[in-house]
Amino acid sequence: MANTRYAIILAAGKGSRMKSKRDDVSKVSYPILGVPLLGYVMDALETCSLSKLITVLGFGGETSKKIAEGRADIVWQKEQKGSGHAVMMAAPLLEGMDGETIVCCGDTPLLKGKTLQNLFEFHENNHNDLTVLTFHADNPKGYGRIVRENGLVKGIVEQKDLVGDQNNIKEVNAGVYVFDNRTLFESLKLLTTDNAAGEYYLTDVISIFANKGLKVDGYVAPDPVEMSGINDRVQLAAAAKALQKRINEALMLSGVTIEDPETAYIGPYVKIGADAVIKPNTTILGATEIGEESVIGPNSYLENVKMGSRGFITFSHVVDCELGEEVQVGPFARLRGNSKVHDKGHIGNFMELKNVDFGEGTKAMHLSYLGDAKIGSGCNIGCGTIVANYDGVNKFHSDIGDRVFVGSGSTLISPVVLGNGCFVAAGSTITDNVEQDAMAIARSRQSNKPGYSIVLHKRAELKKNNKDK
Ligand code: UD1
Ligand code: MG
Repeated sequence: MANTRYAIILAAGKGSRMKSKRDDVSKVSYPILGVPLLGYVMDALETCSLSKLITVLGFGGETSKKIAEGRADIVWQKEQKGSGHAVMMAAPLLEGMDGETIVCCGDTPLLKGKTLQNLFEFHENNHNDLTVLTFHADNPKGYGRIVRENGLVKGIVEQKDLVGDQNNIKEVNAGVYVFDNRTLFESLKLLTTDNAAGEYYLTDVISIFANKGLKVDGYVAPDPVEMSGINDRVQLAAAAKALQKRINEALMLSGVTIEDPETAYIGPYVKIGADAVIKPNTTILGATEIGEESVIGPNSYLENVKMGSRGFITFSHVVDCELGEEVQVGPFARLRGNSKVHDKGHIGNFMELKNVDFGEGTKAMHLSYLGDAKIGSGCNIGCGTIVANYDGVNKFHSDIGDRVFVGSGSTLISPVVLGNGCFVAAGSTITDNVEQDAMAIARSRQSNKPGYSIVLHKRAELKKNNKDK
């Protein structure tokens, strides 16, 4: 029978080295590629077939709560009295239960799910009571040192409490452990604050297990980079670089061309089809999905965009939108507010779309604002068209049928309905509905005064001469 697995993420700490002035933001809510640090840790843990995932929150906890809610149980550590004290907060949910509990920190976004799975398997296959994830550090300063005896782990000594040649130990505590759950909560009761920091150290639980004659071993992680915790903003940037590289390489190996991986910022949940091309200076975040052979960039920002195959977005900003097959956007377009562009729609330069359903094969090539409207298929929206959707208080919706031609420089004052096949003359200000196949022209009639230009010029000249005298 498979062992029951639980997980606790410690995320109550203050993160004082981030040097933030805000006391309502937790360190684990800082984002990398649009995903908070805590999100990465939950993703890795969720690959481990857990029965329960608990996050311990404290400082700036409301921001962390938003991230963890719905994915993990939340317990609060009101006062931060150490990592051991933090784990105690999970006692009401786990104490006395059979199974094994992994404890890790919320600020290690590079940890891979595979490493945690291997740690569990090592623990289970060797029938350990406690397994510590360790690594060999060239510079072990700041980490708890692993004290071994006859190959097994006897204890962990924190930096501040090192004595004698313990300073030379290079094997260090990564801050991730798998414990026998019952024994963990029994042992936590024995912790004291009798140490240099005056805290309840979780690491003291290790010697409590060992002194009981239980089997405590260390699982040496192959790649120390994964263990990097984020304490300051230099480490945040370094972790961001490492994740960027990891994500981009996986995409390239799956068939996506990334022309300049250094300037392609792609979030961990983004899906991109084969033979797509990502051009330089492009950021793609959130739940974005890009179809095969689409070309994105250069200089584009996409967030939560669903896009079909063989599309094209260049020098543009697209957020919360859905684009069909072979849609073209840009350069210099902004699409937002759940706009939907159907197959072969073409949005040209200096365009803005907000909450627009833009029909199949319809074109709007230049300098328009289209907001709160449904536009049918096969339309041509002329240069400089404005859908005036807002009267300063309320937003109104307009409905444009199929095959409609809107001449350049027109303003459609919402709400209006333009019937299928109708034609709006350039420069019109449309306030009333236009019926199917009609032509609407809504501007004052032009009148020409023959020869009057000469009169105007003469008058101007006379004025100039009088001034010069
Ligand atoms: C800890 C380990 C150290 C290990 C290192 C790895 C202890 C005593 N030491 O040291 O052996 O090498 O991690 O990075 O655990 N936390 C709380 N509440 C608290 C205190 C801490 O939730 O009251 C959380 C922090 O937010 C953090 C984690 O526990 O996620 C570890 O605490 P931290 O202060 O970072 O311990 P380190 O000194 O890094
Ligand atoms: Mg730390």
